[in-house]
Amino acid sequence: MTQEELFKKLIAHSKEYGYIFPSSEIYDGLGAVYDYGQMGVELKNNIKRYWWDSMVKLHQNIVGIDAAIFMHPKTWEASGHVGAFNDPLIDNKDSKKRYRADVLLEEHIAKLDEKIDKEVEKARKRFGESFDEAKFRTESPRVQEIQAKRDEVHSRMVKALTDNDLDALRQVIIDAEIVCPISGTRNWTDVRQFNLMFSTQMGATSDGSNTIYLRPETAQGIFVNFLNVQKTGRMKIPFGIAQIGKAFRNEIVARQFIFRMREFEQMEMQFFVRPGEELTWFHKWKQTRMRWHQSLGFGAENYRFHDHDKLAHYANAATDIEYKFPFGFKEVEGIHSRTDFDLGNHQKFSGKKIQYFDPESGESYVPYVVETSIGVDRMVLQVLSAAYTEEKLENGESRVVLRIPSAIAPVKAAILPLVKKDGLPEIAQNLLSKLKYDYVVQYDEKDSIGKRYRRQDAIGTPLCITIDHQSIEDKTVTIRYRDTMEQKRVPMADLPQIIEDEVSMKKLFRIIETEPEC
Ligand code: GAP
Repeated sequence: MTQEELFKKLIAHSKEYGYIFPSSEIYDGLGAVYDYGQMGVELKNNIKRYWWDSMVKLHQNIVGIDAAIFMHPKTWEASGHVGAFNDPLIDNKDSKKRYRADVLLEEHIAKLDEKIDKEVEKARKRFGESFDEAKFRTESPRVQEIQAKRDEVHSRMVKALTDNDLDALRQVIIDAEIVCPISGTRNWTDVRQFNLMFSTQMGATSDGSNTIYLRPETAQGIFVNFLNVQKTGRMKIPFGIAQIGKAFRNEIVARQFIFRMREFEQMEMQFFVRPGEELTWFHKWKQTRMRWHQSLGFGAENYRFHDHDKLAHYANAATDIEYKFPFGFKEVEGIHSRTDFDLGNHQKFSGKKIQYFDPESGESYVPYVVETSIGVDRMVLQVLSAAYTEEKLENGESRVVLRIPSAIAPVKAAILPLVKKDGLPEIAQNLLSKLKYDYVVQYDEKDSIGKRYRRQDAIGTPLCITIDHQSIEDKTVTIRYRDTMEQKRVPMADLPQIIEDEVSMKKLFRIIETEPEC
């Protein structure tokens, strides 16, 4: 199965088992907007709980807030989003389709890379064992020719974007002879900047002064509350403020399911530090956040850092944590050293002093900020992509199983009476009524036990508890583990401890805490 086929299956599976649905599907959906179903919302809540607790519970010097989505419009002038949160757009005059100019070029570059890889693979087949790939790449005239074209497009694109030169960006598209995938023509408009913020009107009048924006990041709600939290919480630098909430971006190229959405959720933490200490904290948070990701057990080889060469105007260091999705390594989280840009600008735009008096140095200053910013939806996609497994079993049957880490699985245990009679459903219901206070548990008595196990495998339930006739006699049950399919007979009285050992987040927290304390 190719990665593309796997991804299609994952999307279909997510819908079939109540994880993710297209938004307003009865009206044929809404572009890049999705709804979470009964399983998806549990997974999402567990991911958020894991993030929140590892920030706020594990750190005495990090507290949380929940700021409003609507903010004073000046917020977005101060943050730079009104002036610079733009994508360069170009339209094809024949198909009337709109594209991001940089994405058209990146796709063209990716095609040239693929061409080079094909040449290499052809040569590998031709030369067999004696093939020297590095030599071939530097010496083959054909590869050199494609590489030169690729490098030229890339360097001109980077220069045009850096200089914000939209005419030059268009000229690269023309010179590279890029055609519209729909019309097949090169009949392009000029490139224009398009602001990604959604706006709406507040109050009854509709003049421009009432225009407000749907926040494109949650971070600004933290910055504007810096003094409130620092003073009321008596916080001492270094300290952090964490927040989980919705963000909105009018993404032009929205694809790959829930990877790039127009309404999504972020988990952001701004860590306020002394000026000059920001890079030390940046490196600490890089490691701590990588541990958080890797604690989920999806394999260290599937993660990597992508350090930014080209930094945003407010940053003095930035990196992405990338995960190997079925469509390649892509960003899940950004870690940015944002200097004093945000607090400094809010001080300027609001006219209010936003400073911290440091009792240790006896000085007042605008703190520097290290930010960790992760998309909840991208985490959901990461977990589902890593967890989705199709298995051939020894008896010739097959099963689809979601190997979601037990601590964040939507349903922790299924309680299954072997038959619908002889008092077994009553015992099962009694057990459910005890466990439901601590865990999401599901009762199921329909179909054969084998079919019920498959249903639970497909939604990723780590434990199945089966009540049979022996349970009446000796108060024992069979517990079946999702990943190994191993079955064990255990006393019913031991179940709370067995479930706790299997699904507790504590194991994950201990992995994160093996890192130097932030
Ligand atoms: N406050 C910094 C900030 O917002 P970002 O790199 O633009 O930085 C941070 O976004 C994270 O938010 C990304 O790593 C990604 O996980 C998530 N994210 C950004 N845009 C998204 C979108 N359109 N759909 C889903 N997730 C998105």
